[in-house]
Amino acid sequence: MTKSQIKETIDRLRENINRHNYLYYVKSLPEITDFEFDQLLKKLEELEKNNPEFDSPLSPTKRVGNDILSSFEQGDHRFPMLSLGNTYSEEDLDEFFDRTEKALEATPEYTCELKFDGVAISITYENGNLTKAITRGDGSRGDIVTENIKTINSVPLTLMGNNYPESFEIRGEVLMPFSSFETINNERIQEGNDPFANPRNAASGTLKMLDPKVVAHRKLDCMLYYMASDSIAEATHFKAMTNARSFGFKVPDTMQLCKTREDIKAYINHWDKERENLPYAIDGVVIKINNFDQQKQLGFTSKTPRWAISYKFKAEQELTKLHSITYQVGRTGAITPVANLEPIQLAGTTVKRASLHNADQIALHDIRVNDMVYVEKGGEIIPKVVGVDKTKRDDSSEPLDYITQCPECNTELVRIEGEAKHFCPNETGCPPQIKGRIKHFISRKAMNIDGIGEETVELLFDKGFIKDITDLYSINADDIKVLEGLGDKSADQLVKGVEESKKMPFASVLFALGIRYVGETVAKKLAHGVKDIDSLISMSKEDLIDIDEIGDKIADSIIDFFANEAKKEMTMKLKEIGLNMKLDEDEISNTDTLKGLTFVITGTFEKHSREELQILIEKYGGKKTSSISKKTSYLLAGKNVGPAKMQKVEKLGINIISEDEFLNMIE
Ligand code: IVH
Repeated sequence: MTKSQIKETIDRLRENINRHNYLYYVKSLPEITDFEFDQLLKKLEELEKNNPEFDSPLSPTKRVGNDILSSFEQGDHRFPMLSLGNTYSEEDLDEFFDRTEKALEATPEYTCELKFDGVAISITYENGNLTKAITRGDGSRGDIVTENIKTINSVPLTLMGNNYPESFEIRGEVLMPFSSFETINNERIQEGNDPFANPRNAASGTLKMLDPKVVAHRKLDCMLYYMASDSIAEATHFKAMTNARSFGFKVPDTMQLCKTREDIKAYINHWDKERENLPYAIDGVVIKINNFDQQKQLGFTSKTPRWAISYKFKAEQELTKLHSITYQVGRTGAITPVANLEPIQLAGTTVKRASLHNADQIALHDIRVNDMVYVEKGGEIIPKVVGVDKTKRDDSSEPLDYITQCPECNTELVRIEGEAKHFCPNETGCPPQIKGRIKHFISRKAMNIDGIGEETVELLFDKGFIKDITDLYSINADDIKVLEGLGDKSADQLVKGVEESKKMPFASVLFALGIRYVGETVAKKLAHGVKDIDSLISMSKEDLIDIDEIGDKIADSIIDFFANEAKKEMTMKLKEIGLNMKLDEDEISNTDTLKGLTFVITGTFEKHSREELQILIEKYGGKKTSSISKKTSYLLAGKNVGPAKMQKVEKLGINIISEDEFLNMIE
């Protein structure tokens, strides 16, 4: 083949692949098999590899994800990315209609769309090519995530036809469909990571990943709902979006024109029911005035357009049978009643268990075994039982007797005043409490012990190799390698991981001890405030409260912890074993350099990423916040700082420092 023939073949292949990609991911009407598609892609890949002069960043072969980034640069939005006003009832909606109709002195036409529950994105196209994708950020400036967006198959890299504006931004929502969400969460659980609470968090976490290859694996989707451009030829939003669809964008065909309030309410009611059959999450409906001139006439408030509003659905509920109740004992001894349900589909996932919270909640709703109960999924990962359909109860039903003894160790349960949950007070003898404390101790954010997971803790405890946290440090590889599922290699790794954990910083040890209310952040503050464990143990409540972020409740909990002989003894034993029980020298000398100073970081930097700068600020005792206020001490500014931010800083008289000036400050 001559070079020009090769170029032609490459162009033809790209066009063909883009078309099949579009048919599959946007239209859901594939014309060829996955195998045939992969063959085309392979052929193109090979041609590009052998003829690098014809390679292109917008080739469909680039969807698998480009090189890893060290951080995201920031970019300005040409048009601000606003949010929407919310309504929750028909009355709220009528108020919106009254308001707009009065202002327009007319009854406008509306478009209704689904309100996708994901992450907003603005994508720029120039001459039909995708050039940039920016997250919403603070509305005027966001993270440039172009490489990640390019991995989403339903986002066109190059546009179809020749009818599109020369330059425009199109906006939409990046979503994680339920199917990918479940796959990813199962993978995360297997790898020992916390699952994402909902598809929105999963989509947002994925977009912020620095490795586009991992993003490509996560199978995101993107629905488009808004064109931002100076040069839209059409007179209405509906037409503009229909047109955008013809350029290859995934503009959902659930978008509908509505002429009357009744039409709109019917649309809302339809989708409130039908949403359970959608492959992705929606949390309401968005209603927009269709005509652009009328939109202009209505204008914007500082945060939202006056020509659009969202109607939010109530959380999804399903009715199902409550078969039985089990009582779980947490690491603090708190008892959580859990409902075992007849499995149901709820907000895209199968639900078999749901939380019943505590005895009061059960009594409040008079929840009984064999009842038909309403289950709801809010923002959290664990669904909850929110009510009972008492009409479906038969005469033999009996009120529930809440347990009085610990289901694991039979100890009489106690109820502390002001606490909603029952507790098992047998801290040192109740297996799930001990195992829970060990699991917390080894976890990633605590001692981060490699080579040991929750299941291994269960095994080692049940077989009698560990009775408490300190026993971890005397495990002998030869003793445990005979255990099922362990073997030579795992046993060695475990012992090595345990040994390595002695290097973890003081703050991690404090967190790992499992003192109630001492989370990761509090542990850091505490470590810097007390400097070593002996001071902490001998501190009075007043001294503790003087430390930043330590209040009454935390101080009491710390004092209680060390007043308990067994816990104090365990702590001392861990010190003897060689765990870090004081701040390192360099941590001590550094901690006060930026004490009392608050920083806002903005722009792009040469020597450090924004995350690294934040770590430095915190390491030297300063505080990083995200928005500028009177309390801000410094704006740490890199390149490309947006004009709005600069104006605000100047108005408030806040000092602006460069990266080098900042580094000098902490030297
Ligand atoms: S229009 C100026 N349409 O909801 C108009 N937004 O709460 C801007 N959203 O930030 C938005 N589905 O992320 C619009 N069909 C839809 C939407 C939608 C979801 C999100 C969007 C926005 C947020 C506002």
